[in-house]
Amino acid sequence: MKVGIVGSGFVGSTAAYALVMQGIGREIVMVDLDDARAAAEADDLFHAVPFSHPLTLRAGNYSDLADSHVVIVAAGINQRPGESRLKLLQRNAQVFRDVIPKIVEHAPHAVLIIATNPVDIMTHLAGEFALACGVPTNRVVGSGTMLDTARFRTLLGMHFGVDSHHVHGYVVGEHGDSEVLSWSLATIACLSLEEYGEQRGVELNDASRAEIDDQVRRAAYRIIKGKGATYYGIGSALAQLVDVVLHDQRSILTVCSRIEGMDGLPDVTISMPHLLGGEGVIAPVPLDLSEDESSALKRSAGIIRDAIDSIGL
Ligand code: LAC
Repeated sequence: MKVGIVGSGFVGSTAAYALVMQGIGREIVMVDLDDARAAAEADDLFHAVPFSHPLTLRAGNYSDLADSHVVIVAAGINQRPGESRLKLLQRNAQVFRDVIPKIVEHAPHAVLIIATNPVDIMTHLAGEFALACGVPTNRVVGSGTMLDTARFRTLLGMHFGVDSHHVHGYVVGEHGDSEVLSWSLATIACLSLEEYGEQRGVELNDASRAEIDDQVRRAAYRIIKGKGATYYGIGSALAQLVDVVLHDQRSILTVCSRIEGMDGLPDVTISMPHLLGGEGVIAPVPLDLSEDESSALKRSAGIIRDAIDSIGL
């Protein structure tokens, strides 16, 4: 199983590391505008292989992506401290106009996994550019709010003293400031958070909710202020998404994909639970949100739609 990674910066190389250490894929090719960077990352990563599972890993150019089953696209610039993800749009749109057609030319059957921010709009752009080359939009998937959902579940788990794998809840909408935490649907042991809290004597008051919301919504800003970028969380999320596609795992993850004709939403690329398999998106799974959450999702979709329209695609 072959995986291409275009963009060997913090996110792309950390995703590669996650793939290596989990033994996901058997061949990894890393491409970057900066050949020396790609070669150095590949060399360093290849020295981790003996401590994990056998696979080949090398730097290459776009033609080396041939026969890739999946290509992660992490090319572009990332947020500066205090900068919103939407601010990156114009610069990264130019990058994608160049990169996406080159990827599709050499890996026409690959599922494209988009990580570059603002990921919702970049996934929309990538879908448009790929569609123009004959690639159906279900094969263009963005990491979306996978990381936000993981943050939400982790913080709920910490609050209630439960492993996050046993906390169920989603963050939907923009991977950004307008994202929506679906509190009304979150459960532990098939109980609402209120019911579980009553059973276990753990209160979830407004202050706790506000704190968790802030921790999820502003996580990246805090981390970027301290270390300049985020990459372990997103790199791990990308590795999980590659695993789902390579092994047709039919998982449900809050990725972002092109959504058209969904009640109450414009034609937009947005995160919500999706059923995913070997060919990318099988189907979106819209949530039965509360009235407030549904209104917030519509606002979030409007922000993404306006950003897409601002590019004048
Ligand atoms: C974050 C980046 C990946 O949320 O947008 O950490």
